[in-house]
Amino acid sequence: MAVDLERIGRASLKELGDIRIDDVLSFIDRGIENMPSYMDLYRRWEVQQWAVADLDFSLDRQDWLESDDLDRKATLWSHRLFFNGEERVTATLAPFVWAAPTPEIEIFLSTQMVDEARHTVFFEKWWHDVVGTEARDMTQLLAEIRPEANEGYNALFYDRLPSTAQRLASNPKDFDAFIEGVTLYHIVIEATIALTGQRFELETMREQGLTDRGFYRGFTAVARDESRHVNFGIKILQDAVREDPQRFAPIIQQTLVECLPLISGTLDPPDPRYITEFGHTESEILTFAFESLNKRLRAIGINLAA
Ligand SMILES: [Fe+2]
Ligand SMILES: [Fe+2]
Repeated sequence: MAVDLERIGRASLKELGDIRIDDVLSFIDRGIENMPSYMDLYRRWEVQQWAVADLDFSLDRQDWLESDDLDRKATLWSHRLFFNGEERVTATLAPFVWAAPTPEIEIFLSTQMVDEARHTVFFEKWWHDVVGTEARDMTQLLAEIRPEANEGYNALFYDRLPSTAQRLASNPKDFDAFIEGVTLYHIVIEATIALTGQRFELETMREQGLTDRGFYRGFTAVARDESRHVNFGIKILQDAVREDPQRFAPIIQQTLVECLPLISGTLDPPDPRYITEFGHTESEILTFAFESLNKRLRAIGINLAA
């Protein structure tokens, strides 16, 4: 059955409960065949607004109270990475807006900044309503949930991403740094790591019959936002490579080669049962991540077989 992208594009939070994540992600593949303009992506953002406050986590809270220790640990592991990650990408996007080479790109990136802030608030509300916390404010909550050390994750979110953002902030005219930053932010972090994690968590919930939960609906809305961000990233890099392959392809390739071990490091759970208990395997997840990455790279017009 053909995927009705228009219906998914306009679905409300409630309707997102009936939608499969793979169908949401097919927006990216459609975009690859027929790339939307930056203003098309902006207009999609206008019709895809949603409010964290509209989500009801009472069934999620009930599930949490009935869940066992392993279930909780697995959920907390994943949601810590996401909550903290969403805050980190909110904090580092502003220099990309400064460095935007055209007003259309600047406008799209401004919408993305709002999205990332909303994703952070989504996890904050989930934490308050489902897990419960004594934290007085978000600073305290973020300090409390800061993920257990994972080398790949720390290198990406506390070293590479802020240092690239800093380079852009120091010199917004540094277009090479912009291309490196988009490769890191949109292709490595969003397209490869975040969407893979989201896909497996949402699929697991669907397999367990939990699609009416607030988390399923909200996280599907997050994934729909991310698919717009990823399409934007592909377009930026595709345009750059078409314009000057000699100059830009090596920057993208080198960034990816350096980040590949960080991708598998980030997706690697401290306990393999966080994945196997839920009917999946780590190799299945890594295969999905690298296949998605390869699809994006083909669209951009480069390959990694160097
Ligand atoms: Fe996000
Ligand atoms: Fe994003």
